[in-house]
Amino acid sequence: MTQQVFARIAGTGSYLPSKVLTNDDLARFVDTSDEWISARTGIRQRHVAAEGETTCDLAYHAATRAMEAAGVTADELDLIVVGTTTPDLIFPSTACLLQARLGASGCGAFDVNAACSGFIYGLTVADKFIRGGNARTALVVGSETLTRMLDWSDRSTCVLFGDGAGAVVLKADHETGILSTHLHADGAKKELLWNPVGVSAGFKPGEPNAGVRVLMTGNEVFKHAVKALDSVVEETLEANGLDRHDIDWLIPHQANLRIIEATAKRLDMPMDRVIVTVDRHGNTSSGSVPLALDEAIRSGRVQRGQLLLLEAFGGGFTWGSALLRY
Ligand code: UT7
Repeated sequence: MTQQVFARIAGTGSYLPSKVLTNDDLARFVDTSDEWISARTGIRQRHVAAEGETTCDLAYHAATRAMEAAGVTADELDLIVVGTTTPDLIFPSTACLLQARLGASGCGAFDVNAACSGFIYGLTVADKFIRGGNARTALVVGSETLTRMLDWSDRSTCVLFGDGAGAVVLKADHETGILSTHLHADGAKKELLWNPVGVSAGFKPGEPNAGVRVLMTGNEVFKHAVKALDSVVEETLEANGLDRHDIDWLIPHQANLRIIEATAKRLDMPMDRVIVTVDRHGNTSSGSVPLALDEAIRSGRVQRGQLLLLEAFGGGFTWGSALLRY
């Protein structure tokens, strides 16, 4: 009988640009306050990429750290997937740019654009490649320079986002790794959170940054996010025949502490079993889950053998989860 193959996390890495922007810094040029941002979102600061520092640069640092932790060299990679909604270029994909930087030429490499759910989507794809026998070693990255597409005069969005990247190396293993992944989307809600210009729809030459900016109806997104995450968490437990108390760690997308607390409550999890980085990173979109995961592993909180629930919600709408034994 052939043994089942799982995609198992062999190593993680992450990277944050060195420049930090605090809430007080923001209050100097936009009508906001540390009090409002902290109370409504839990965010105290975020990192901002330096001029000329790109999504691929962030991804490269996170990827090399993950590969080092996994003991994997570039020539061993069979697949590179980058979740990003802020690619360096229109094409080639950031995954191809990263592949060249790593010296991993030859293996498949592509981007997944699922906004803040990009890492969960990418992890899902790589899991299928490994389970299906099409790859033995895969690099999955979530990397973003979201601050490049913010309207810094719009206080309803510019206080929320930051730049950063996280990465995991997955390896085929007979030991349990990723147990299940669950993806969803609802394109009919696109206008609640979007960046409404592009190559084919056209840019707006008369507007600042050619109209490139994040637009969001925050309170509507908030309600949809809480509901969708509740439902995907239930779906994940049910698919695996698990009780909510079986989960060791919740590693959520870091958009808003109040959303994270709502999901934790649903799982009856005390907040000391939930990884929170939103206070220091802000919302780094597809970078957020792998950044939180790497921080939790490197700090020694998450241990081998523990059961982790990863989840995310973002523009599209897109949302999803991954249940894995680390
Ligand atoms: O990662 C992708 C998914 N994204 C999310 O999950 C984000 C979901 N949404 C949220 O996190 C929250 O809705 C926000 C943090 C964006 C906003 O919090 P809220 O409690 O929903 O506030 P609100 O949008 O209902 O606005 C309340 C008030 C408004 O003033 P009035 O109309 O009550 O006078 C806003 O104009 O807060 C005002 N406001 C601000 N005040 C100071 C909005 N942004 C700011 C600001 N500083 N930065």
